[in-house]
Amino acid sequence: MPASVDTTGFPADFVWGVSTSAYQVEGAVTEDGRGASIWDTRCKTKGGIGDGSNADVACDHYHRWPEDIALMQGIGVDAYRFSIAWPRLLPRGRGAVNEAGLAFYDRLIDSLLEKGIEPWVCLYHWDLPQALHDRGGWTSRDGAGWFADYTALCAKRYGDRVKRWITFNEFSVFTLFGYAIPWAAPGITDRAAHLKAIHHVNLAHGAGVDVLRSLVPGASIGAIHNRQKIIPEHGRAENVEPAALLDEHWNKAFPDPQLLGHYPPRLAEAIEPYVQPGDMARICRPIDWFGLNHYGPIFAKAEPDSTWGYWWGDAPPDAPDYGVGWAIFPDAFREELLDIQHTYRLPIVVTENGCGGSDVVDAEGRVNDPHRIAYFKIYQEAMRAAMREGADVRGYFVWSLLDNFEWGTGYGSRFGIVHVDFQTLKRTPKASARWYADLIKAARAAGSQP
Ligand code: FCB
Repeated sequence: MPASVDTTGFPADFVWGVSTSAYQVEGAVTEDGRGASIWDTRCKTKGGIGDGSNADVACDHYHRWPEDIALMQGIGVDAYRFSIAWPRLLPRGRGAVNEAGLAFYDRLIDSLLEKGIEPWVCLYHWDLPQALHDRGGWTSRDGAGWFADYTALCAKRYGDRVKRWITFNEFSVFTLFGYAIPWAAPGITDRAAHLKAIHHVNLAHGAGVDVLRSLVPGASIGAIHNRQKIIPEHGRAENVEPAALLDEHWNKAFPDPQLLGHYPPRLAEAIEPYVQPGDMARICRPIDWFGLNHYGPIFAKAEPDSTWGYWWGDAPPDAPDYGVGWAIFPDAFREELLDIQHTYRLPIVVTENGCGGSDVVDAEGRVNDPHRIAYFKIYQEAMRAAMREGADVRGYFVWSLLDNFEWGTGYGSRFGIVHVDFQTLKRTPKASARWYADLIKAARAAGSQP
């Protein structure tokens, strides 16, 4: 593990940030006219969330955002990436607008700007209004139009102040886990539903980009992809084709059509029945940057009983853990950044990187999370190496500012650099928050030297 990180050579306008998402932090799920999302439904479904919890309160960011902005100021970030809860603005997903919901994000955005923190707004971080799911959700081609209308509402309301826009977070995770593998809302496991969801979400992205471009002068538009190298488990021959198919679904199903204008080969064949003339041009719209969420590689194995014949396998037993507690592959991050650069030729923003843990407050009221600092150091080094080799990385956002509600599992795994006591909702910056603050300071100081 590197003792310290190379903080030299970051571009002067490099963006240091923290990320959250609406459903994972806001709470207040029935307040001020918010409608239900598919995740509220999943939380009510037996076995839907590993620890049986829900996000009704989560971090109560809906009320405690001023304190959370103060925490961001303390860390010294340039930017806050958060998502808008579609069902807060449009409780039925379309039609009647909820002014109280719109006003919440006005307050948040205005306060961030006042404090010198740039809002990076993500339009969709998985909380589809339940009412739209009841009409078919992403399996319906109408999804693109619903998303375009919702985007227009946001663009008109916030576009005077918000310039950084993200259409979707992790397209492939919510489509694969929501429609083929039962790990996320809405919990469907069906090949056709998955294929339709992929195509309609791609169409929604394209429509959203067009709306933002026409309504927000000077918009800087990105989309967030979770790219992770897929490695056949134990290098076995029977895992090679399942890994290749997962690679298409996980890594290529969205950036390829959005940025190259075509689906990867296996998917192209399967998805053809749902593609109409002109669709690829509707999907492939120019954007300004590539958002990358990265945690580690995936080991894939054959699983004939699963929807697509692949499943998650194990990392090699001798994989290094650097004291972090699980296998760590910084090289996969470096290679991913370079691969994205060469394939898609856009500036890259790392929109999520971080690690979970079961961090506790000690007797002195402090939270020590050396494993997370170790992880950050290793991944920062990998990012720097990629930048030296030509990856045009323009920003880095930690996942996450706060411990929060983790999809599918609940509150066991803490990803925050700020600890949240879920009984009292007290916030305590962890050692990693201080480490991140120092990193940002050092990078800025080094950047300002002649
Ligand atoms: C990503 C999600 C984010 C969070 C992290 C741990 O896949 O985008 O919301 O759950 O994983």
